[in-house]
Amino acid sequence: MGDQETKKLFERLSQTVVPTHYDLTIQPYVDTFKFNGEVTIHIQVREPTDTVILYAADLQVDNAKIVSKSKDELNGKIELDEENERLKISFDKKLEKNDYQLSMKFAGDITNRMVGFYRNQYTTPDGTVRYGASTQFEPADCRRAFPCWDEPNFKATFDITLITPKDLRAISNMPIKSENEFAENKEWKVTKFDRTPIMSTYLVAFVIGEYDYVETKDSNGVSMRVYTPLGKKEHGNFALETASKVLPFYAEYFKIKYPIAKADQIAIPDFAMGAMENWGVITYRETALLIDPKLSAMSARQRVAIVVAHELAHQWFGNLVTMDWWTDLWLNEGFASWIEYLAVDKCYPEFDIWTQFVADAFSEFLTPDALKSSHPIEIPIGHPAEIDEIFDAISYHKGSSVIRMLHDYIGDDAFRKGLHTYLTEYSYKNTITLNLWSHLAKASGKPVADVMSTWTLQMGYPLVTVHEEQQANKTRTIKLTQQRFIADGSSDDDNLQWKIPITIFTKSNPKSIAKQILMDKPEMTVTLENISEDDWIKLNYNSIGLYRVKYEPKTLARLNEPIANKTLSPQDRLMVQNDVAALCNAGHQSFVDCLKLLLSYKDEDNFTVWKSIASTIGDLSSLIEYTEYFNQYKKYRLNLFSSIQKKLGWNATANEDPLVAMLRPIILTIRGKSGDQEVIDEANKRFQQHVNGNLIDPNIRGAVYNIASRYGNENTQEQLRKLYKEAVMNEEKNRLLNAMGQSSNPAIIESTLQFVFEGDNVRMQDIYVGVIGCVSSRIGRDIVWKFLQNKWTTIVERYGEKSSFLTTFVECCLSGFVDDKTASEIQSFFDSANTPIVTRAVKQVVETIQMRSKVLKRDSKAIEEYLSQY
Ligand code: BES
Ligand code: ZN
Repeated sequence: MGDQETKKLFERLSQTVVPTHYDLTIQPYVDTFKFNGEVTIHIQVREPTDTVILYAADLQVDNAKIVSKSKDELNGKIELDEENERLKISFDKKLEKNDYQLSMKFAGDITNRMVGFYRNQYTTPDGTVRYGASTQFEPADCRRAFPCWDEPNFKATFDITLITPKDLRAISNMPIKSENEFAENKEWKVTKFDRTPIMSTYLVAFVIGEYDYVETKDSNGVSMRVYTPLGKKEHGNFALETASKVLPFYAEYFKIKYPIAKADQIAIPDFAMGAMENWGVITYRETALLIDPKLSAMSARQRVAIVVAHELAHQWFGNLVTMDWWTDLWLNEGFASWIEYLAVDKCYPEFDIWTQFVADAFSEFLTPDALKSSHPIEIPIGHPAEIDEIFDAISYHKGSSVIRMLHDYIGDDAFRKGLHTYLTEYSYKNTITLNLWSHLAKASGKPVADVMSTWTLQMGYPLVTVHEEQQANKTRTIKLTQQRFIADGSSDDDNLQWKIPITIFTKSNPKSIAKQILMDKPEMTVTLENISEDDWIKLNYNSIGLYRVKYEPKTLARLNEPIANKTLSPQDRLMVQNDVAALCNAGHQSFVDCLKLLLSYKDEDNFTVWKSIASTIGDLSSLIEYTEYFNQYKKYRLNLFSSIQKKLGWNATANEDPLVAMLRPIILTIRGKSGDQEVIDEANKRFQQHVNGNLIDPNIRGAVYNIASRYGNENTQEQLRKLYKEAVMNEEKNRLLNAMGQSSNPAIIESTLQFVFEGDNVRMQDIYVGVIGCVSSRIGRDIVWKFLQNKWTTIVERYGEKSSFLTTFVECCLSGFVDDKTASEIQSFFDSANTPIVTRAVKQVVETIQMRSKVLKRDSKAIEEYLSQY
């Protein structure tokens, strides 16, 4: 969507009429999936006008009436501009500058689209299927629930009333003020909620349905509940415990109290994303909130802790202080994606979460941001439909990495101080990125905006090349150069430059920084002291700076030693191989170098380093899978992962390190996929025992399912499907769903796709999980691509043409190909598919495939030769 020509002409609402307060009543019918509503909006007319324009979409609106302070009434004429989702109300007399109340009645459908006010399907413990309803308004779907000024800088207060059947719970942002029988129908009740703080429309929420809950108060007396499906309230305990620690942590970190009397979290049965930070009532996908103390994997706990910490951060950063327009969404999301780590580190130090940041956030943005089709963090957004473009790895992962670099640059004290004054100044207001920079600059005395703008206003990041110039008398002179790193190795026509905080450290003092400079030129020479001839040197201490490093062969070779003896921190160890792999992809060096380097990690013991290596190995596998020497490569993998597998085995030990519990399945999966017969036999054995009721440890269950599926037959599939249907927890369902398509039998993959897409086996929110399983192999990828082409129209109809799920399908299914022919097939298919939402994803996929194709052409011979020893 990024291209100028596809951008819709768009104008924001005028500030001549602004809302200050909404009195909103909604009456939903979860049997007919309809709702009725009434709203009275207190408005200020700031310039005389005879029209009022606000938003409404997919609503029938009637009876618009305006009442002045002196109780004069005027009826308005309503026009709905469907294309622009706007409601124009015209009066036959000018409204003078004053305060008024604008009232409307409206009605709409409770859809199944997972946006606006939509329905949820759930099954009660006795097996009956029932429906509830909930909201998802960010970025611009509040207008599907009631007419409103649906832009983030029209903040107002809200008095919400819900009229619902008596047996359903009614939950909203604020505590319940009153609950009474509905005068018109005894079976219904009227729930009124306290007035909200001054806030944006995208944060309004209400939920109707049957829920259980667990509750507590945090150390500041805020009431906290976690709402769960009926009969599963203990699955809310972990999130509740996390939230009750994290909320006071933030109140203290920001030195601003949480402004609402309650902070609820609720697991919604049908939910498009991971979670949504509605003020006072955060909504979650079930897997992002619920933990079964017996059945959940450690990785699921960690995920819940992260998501909870992220959404709670938004209660200040986003809800109290809100971006002026979607252009600054990155600030919300980048900041929350950084501080979630700070909070989890405080509450669960055992996850060593900051190390994981490097693998899960830092290195995850480096890949897409190296594409020519990337975009800057700060990107002008016109129409809110363009938001999908920035709800991506760049906003989240580059955004959080930029904040981490900045935090390191100015230090925690100045960072907190600046944050506090910023949040205080803009409380209940709106803001832009520059305002944060100026508060942080003031607190630190450093040129924050100046340094940050090179990172947020231009796309990409630099590759710093290190050239050793001279070594004499224990000093070494090195020359550094910077240029944009581009994934396929092409040079940067725009010649972008950055202000790079560079750190250098060396063998003589491996735990402290020897040199720290701000590189603000294309080239710099640095002299290092106290350094002997063979001493290693390394740039980017703990991988905090946003750059990759390219060393000369001898400089790189010296790093084998501190990698093998683990003198380098895990963050540094993992990035050395990650950088080298990226440089190989780009053709700066041969992939043989990468394969050789990886062998220095054979005795690695750190979870995060292994996770990152596994990802390098996985990327490479999906290339080599297309060659004749894939079997040799499997043997190489067996060799690389042999000692760690021996060490970990199959069974958890008592009080095991949680990171070991998370590492074991990664190693087992790779060993299994590489053809380790012992692992395959054991997995099959355990799978059969599991089917017969001897349950597998949840931490390795996903790995066992994957291996059993890969080497299994129709019967295995039947068993997986049966387990899927019987599973109660979504986490368990996802493990099974992901395993199904990993079969090596094309017929089974085809039938998995049927299972996943057809009938009501799988919720719309989970379909992509099944599809991702199918693209884990070369044959699977072909089958899925054919399937997508055949079914695209149906898929688009089902999800809606604006659904971000469409982007997910493109991104997850198609980037594994390696030939230019498929790349152009993909391009031309989507050129004529008329689904603009996927335009950028398609570009990125095509560019990725072209890069992969180049790699194979360039390095295949050499890799084959190297691997022939296996
Ligand atoms: N505010 C977002 C959700 C969102 C963003 C909705 C943009 C619509 C447009 C929420 O805070 C979020 O970031 N959710 C993440 C999970 C989080 C832990 C990274 C998600 O849903 O993936
Ligand atoms: Zn967020």
